[in-house]
Formats: sequence, C-alpha cells, structure tokens
Amino acid sequence: MTQRTPIVGGNWKMNTNHRTAAELTRELAGGLERVGGVDVFIAPPFPYLLLVGAILRERGSRVVLAAQDVYFEPDGAFTGEVSIPMLQDCHVRSVIVGHSERRHVLGEHNETINRKLRAVLDAGLQGVLCVGETLAQREAGRTDDVNRMQLQECLAGIDAEHAERLVVAYEPVWAIGTGRTATPEDAQNAHHKIRGVLSGLFDEHVASRIRVQYGGSVKGSNALGLFAQGDVDGGLIGGASLKSAEFVQICQAAAQSARGA
Ligand code: PGA
Repeated sequence: MTQRTPIVGGNWKMNTNHRTAAELTRELAGGLERVGGVDVFIAPPFPYLLLVGAILRERGSRVVLAAQDVYFEPDGAFTGEVSIPMLQDCHVRSVIVGHSERRHVLGEHNETINRKLRAVLDAGLQGVLCVGETLAQREAGRTDDVNRMQLQECLAGIDAEHAERLVVAYEPVWAIGTGRTATPEDAQNAHHKIRGVLSGLFDEHVASRIRVQYGGSVKGSNALGLFAQGDVDGGLIGGASLKSAEFVQICQAAAQSARGA
C-alpha cells in the first residue's frame, strides 16, 4: 500500500533484438492499455530506443521510454558513450543510473553515478537511482549503512526541486537475477530506512513524495506481497520484464496495491 502513485520499470538489460524488441513493445502497449493507476517505463538497449519509442507513440501508449544508462558530458571525445541530448532526441524521458551491474561488473563508483544523476535531473528527465547491498555486506549486517552511504554520495548537490524527478530503486545485489527475493518485511525495513535517509537529505515532505521501487527477482507471483508494503512503491524488473504477460501482471499488482491504500 502506498500513498504515492506506484511506478514499475522494465529493465531489458542486454537482451532482445530488433524483432523481439518490437514484438515485446507491441505486446506491452496492448496489455497495459487498460491498466491505470501505475506509472510504467521500459528501458530497452540503446540501439532499439528509437524503434521502441516509435511503437509506443504509434499505439498512443502511456508507457514511458527509459534508458539503462547515460554519460554526463553533453558531447565530445568519449568513445562508446551516449549523451543526454542524444537520449532526448530519441524521446527518452527517464534514465536508470547506478544499476548494480554498472557498479559491480563495469566498475562504476558513486562519484560518477552522482554526476550522471545530476545531469539527468538538470535536463528535466526522471532519474532512477539504484542502490543496494551485496550478499557479503548483508551478512555483515551493513545493509542500512551501505544504502545510506550510496544515497548520500549519489545525491550530493541535488536539491529538493530536482528531487521531484527522482525515483530510488532498492535492489539488493544478492537478489538480482538469482531467483532469491527479499521478503516483503525485509524490503519494507530497507525502504523505510531509505526514506529516513531521504528525509535527512531533503525534508520529510520531499521524502514522502519520492517513490522507492524494489528490484531483485520480482515476478508475477511475488509482486503483490512486496508492493503491499507501505514504503514499497512498485518495482524495477529485469528478467520478468522480458515476458509481456508477466510484466503486465506485475504492473497490475502495483495498481492493485495502490487501490488498497
Ligand atoms: P531481476 O533484475 O528482476 O532479473 O532480478 C532486476 C534488476 O536488475 O533491475
């Protein structure tokens, strides 16, 4: 249950091709047509942004086009990177930053994530900041400290006005792609602490408006239990976002959790 409009994101990661990206988008646009009361975004790989965006527009879909990452400089000699103006050219309105795979597989640090997030919010886009602890950190009882540190460093220099476009995704690293999900109670505890940190960084009113998604092996079958928690405002979905029927079911669960509020 949440007082905020829940938000569900599909992070396609490095999956799909031209054909399957188009198919998935058509199925999602159709399946989500009658699902209201939940904000939905999908983040396809860069090469398919224009394709996916065109299909969403053609279908009149409310699903928001998102990117999985971005670079903070507007242009220049940064081989392989993609800028915010390029994303805006492709009609992208939301950007995921600091995903754990960027942190742990590709070596991204809080300072870089902070620069990316500031650039995204400055440009008027929605920024989805991912935070979360590894298994070793969890077992050492450091979950809340790790989340606090990541939030403090990644949100440095961001003011309350910019925070209106901020979404936080709590994604315990040990739950991502592993089939292991945090229990609804564990998720609620972590989300509640995260909202407390946001209160300290901004203020209580601003923190009460920021949506905190849960991510990590969310499926159609466990979504409602997670989203029913007071501080869990939807989810960031990896594997299950590649199956249209299951992703639609997860979005319906988010809408249902809001109706129960
Ligand atoms: P998963 O990924 O749903 O496949 O666990 C979540 C994420 O990485 O955003």
